[in-house]
Amino acid sequence: MWRSCPYDLKTGLIAGHVPTSRHLSDLPTAFADAAAYRRMLDGGDPLLYQVTQVEENNGPGQLHYGLGVLHPGKVGDEYFMTKGHLHAWRPAAEVYVGLAGRGVMLLEDERSGESALVALEQNTVVYVPGYTAHRTINTGNEPLVYWGILGSEAGHDYGTVGARNFRQVVVEIDGSPVMMERTEYLRRIDQ
Ligand code: NI
Repeated sequence: MWRSCPYDLKTGLIAGHVPTSRHLSDLPTAFADAAAYRRMLDGGDPLLYQVTQVEENNGPGQLHYGLGVLHPGKVGDEYFMTKGHLHAWRPAAEVYVGLAGRGVMLLEDERSGESALVALEQNTVVYVPGYTAHRTINTGNEPLVYWGILGSEAGHDYGTVGARNFRQVVVEIDGSPVMMERTEYLRRIDQ
């Protein structure tokens, strides 16, 4: 019960725990550029990320935590990203701790629709308040590795984000990550 658990920054794995793997085909609605998505899928089904969740302790005051490793790459102009989610119990906040690589978190307040892009990388910590959809995005050339730590009551709601998606996309323009309205980006790539 009282023990420390080694983890590996290179592989993003925690000793004794099995990761969940997400491939490109597991994110059918996340990427805006449907043609680029299909082209990449035709060429294979790359591993986008792995998350190793530790959810052994449950009940009031208990914590869950997970180690994420998100690989670098792009679908069209959009960087590799996680599915993103809200917490099933909406008031639940979460802390993300950047360990390696370079990336951002896309945050969207479910109540106001407001969005923000914040850095997630080594030596950064991000507080994700309740009611906030959050997605991790690798904007660098190395795996992005991070901890997510949250209350055991939080739970995950992937369905809401999967169905209506984030309003903003994060795309590379002139070599830099830019947040833009999904509808605006779709207009651009149609041209
Ligand atoms: Ni979360």
